[in-house]
Amino acid sequence: MDKLRITGGQQLNGTIEIGGAKNAALPLMTASVLTAEPVLFNNVPDLMDVKSLIDLLNDMGANITRDGSNLTIDNKSMTSTKASYDLVRKMRASVLVLGPLLARFGTAEVSLPGGCAIGTRPVDMHISALEQMGAKIEIKDGYIYATAPENGLNGAEIVFSQKSVGATENLLMAASLANGHTILHNAAREPEVTDLAELLIKMGAKITGLGTDNLEITGVSELSGAEHAVIPDRIETGTYMIATAMTGGRVVLKNARLDLLDALLPVLKMAGVDIEQIENGDIIVERAGNGLNSVDITTKPYPGFPTDLQAQLMAMLTVANGAGIVDETIFENRFMHVPELIRMGADITVKGSSALVRGVEQLKGAEVMATDLRASVSLILAGLVAEGTTVVNRIYHLDRGYENLEQKLGACGAKLERIKT
Ligand code: EPZ
Repeated sequence: MDKLRITGGQQLNGTIEIGGAKNAALPLMTASVLTAEPVLFNNVPDLMDVKSLIDLLNDMGANITRDGSNLTIDNKSMTSTKASYDLVRKMRASVLVLGPLLARFGTAEVSLPGGCAIGTRPVDMHISALEQMGAKIEIKDGYIYATAPENGLNGAEIVFSQKSVGATENLLMAASLANGHTILHNAAREPEVTDLAELLIKMGAKITGLGTDNLEITGVSELSGAEHAVIPDRIETGTYMIATAMTGGRVVLKNARLDLLDALLPVLKMAGVDIEQIENGDIIVERAGNGLNSVDITTKPYPGFPTDLQAQLMAMLTVANGAGIVDETIFENRFMHVPELIRMGADITVKGSSALVRGVEQLKGAEVMATDLRASVSLILAGLVAEGTTVVNRIYHLDRGYENLEQKLGACGAKLERIKT
């Protein structure tokens, strides 16, 4: 398992290209199951999670070609409606094939994704909502066996008990080919959900309410192919903004969208970070002279502070002036970066879903363990500012969601080296 060695103390100065969003690319790719025509994607990031989903779709008979960041998926001759455990366990977002398979083929056999490090992450809301549309669903031997009514799924008025990105996406796709009208109340409003809805509309779906938590879908009999560019990755963007805030220096972010970061910007401004978008769209990030101020954050569904930036912001608080409170309200176990940051000299006290982070003068490099995707990157950010050398183990977690991170940070002056073991 590869490790990453970081030598701390370098400022970041330079330019970073932001890639397509992992959490948009994955649902977009599953939407290709809804049509027998090819769907062409641009700006697809080169990530392990994307490769895992390509493997899954290939296993089901998709015909996929990749040319750089362009990806064409042709599901004309899909031969299987089974998403098997050995593929789903690698990437839990594979459960997003459930809705499209049911809608297009009337049947689906999808492995339960199982939990992951950050929480149990059930799919009960996906299942109960599909049952409201007439699906017969049985859970047996770790698989979801689902069949639609003879003449297809039926539109329904669905109220999600809590906001769920994946459940909203699965139901959006299922409802696009259902009979009649579906309303999704308390739907997730993440930009990646809106990006999926925009692709579905290009394919011929009838959807209104984009960007709100009430989505209305009128089913159509079939959907066509389309071409679609994946939106920029707001979590990658926020990660590099926070890295620059921690190290000092001036970084220009290209192909990023400031409007996707409404919750992070005021937090970074309060912390003392200057962020400006110039006329050509480039975003300039620079830490103001006098160090970083602590801030409090509470993670919330969009447009609140994203849980996927919580670990990175916490790394920043470990070296800020004063103390900040981090409240994690989305996942029940998303503080696994805390003991690793403490090994580097951070002063963090966890009580339930809250962490009190008291800033320290200087972190010390140490050998640490990545436990999940965003925890891994928070340890790297800490390593960038720690005295001496930090070695982050199990860096495969990072490769799931960050494309060329070493190269992007290295080009801005950071000292990172991947140790292949
Ligand atoms: C998506 O996961 C993202 N993944 C996650 O990003 C992100 O953290 C999460 O949304 C929240 O924003 C992708 O888009 C591929 P949820 P998802 O359904 O859809 C509970 C990353 O680091 N829940 O919005 O799985 C669930 O347990 C990853 O890139 C149920 O109880 O998240 C969680 O507590 C991590 N029952 C909460 O809802 C359900 O049926 C939000 O989960 C579904 C969800």
